[in-house]
Amino acid sequence: MKSLIQTDFLGYKLRSPLVLVSGVYTQTSDFLNAQNSGAGVITTKSFTYFPRQGHPAPVVAKYKEGFLNSVGLRNAGIAEAKKQIRELKSKLNIPFLISIFDTNIKNFAQLVLHLLPLEPDFIELNLSCPNVDDEFGKPLATQTDSAFEVVKTVKKIADDKIKIIAKLTPNVNDIGMVAKSCERAGADAIAAINTVGPGMLIDIKSKKPVLGNRQGGVSGPAIKPMALRCVYDIFENVSIPIIGMGGVCNTNDAIEMLMAGASLIGVGSALYLNGWKVFQEINDGILKYLSENGYGSSNDIIGLAH
Ligand SMILES: Cc1cc2nc3c(=O)[nH]c(=O)nc-3n(C[C@H](O)[C@H](O)[C@H](O)COP(=O)(O)O)c2cc1C
Repeated sequence: MKSLIQTDFLGYKLRSPLVLVSGVYTQTSDFLNAQNSGAGVITTKSFTYFPRQGHPAPVVAKYKEGFLNSVGLRNAGIAEAKKQIRELKSKLNIPFLISIFDTNIKNFAQLVLHLLPLEPDFIELNLSCPNVDDEFGKPLATQTDSAFEVVKTVKKIADDKIKIIAKLTPNVNDIGMVAKSCERAGADAIAAINTVGPGMLIDIKSKKPVLGNRQGGVSGPAIKPMALRCVYDIFENVSIPIIGMGGVCNTNDAIEMLMAGASLIGVGSALYLNGWKVFQEINDGILKYLSENGYGSSNDIIGLAH
């Protein structure tokens, strides 16, 4: 492993500001790959209280500018999640974010109560999945009030030692206001953005939508400008740190994300395009940029675009 960029985040000394985002890879072996490739933090798949089948295949489709996914929060539920979390605690030597999702405040609270005995470092509240509207109604983070209530309830249950991160959807009028509301409710950090859309691709041979669920969230290079604008708006509205994600594929994208205001940079779809080496390439690239431009750390360029 070559040199990495030491970063401070919510009292943790991270070996790198790069984060494996939720859901793109989900197995413990994947998380070890991310760690060995230079990620500073990894994020689990979003777990729900009960197991979920997810949507019919195909659930991921690639197009020229990115991906569509309609995984639909396929996961094995909290009991299996706890097994994986114990395994991660024993195998990983970097911190990890446990991502949880549910449709109402009561279930979010139940999930956190289950996680408490495992003493997690970070819990990421997925307030933003766009694939499951039909089943669940609008994501909680489309409204400032509901985002506030979820974060407040979870903060009350979670020991102060557990850092709570609110992950937001870009599919709102004013993401800055939603972030501000989460901060007021006690969130320790904001993660943004989840996928954009939903969108659709059509197979002109079968004359049908490509995805089994017909529509899915858009990720990858296509969404980078939206992600940067969202992170920029959030930075203008909050003083807690931001994990910026959405279309980051290379060093330039990562530096843009830092300059927009992100403290950490999430990488997801780029791993489908370029493999695990992306983490080391971006680490190396940021280090080179910092030294060529006289900066000591990635913290020195956070928010410079403002
Ligand atoms: C296949 C797939 C599954 C995803 N699953 C989740 C999930 O379970 N929870 C979540 O918060 N975000 C999920 N996401 C969204 C990503 O974490 C990320 O916010 C988004 O893809 C933007 O980053 P990217 O363009 O680097 O992929 C998923 C994305 C993809 C492509």
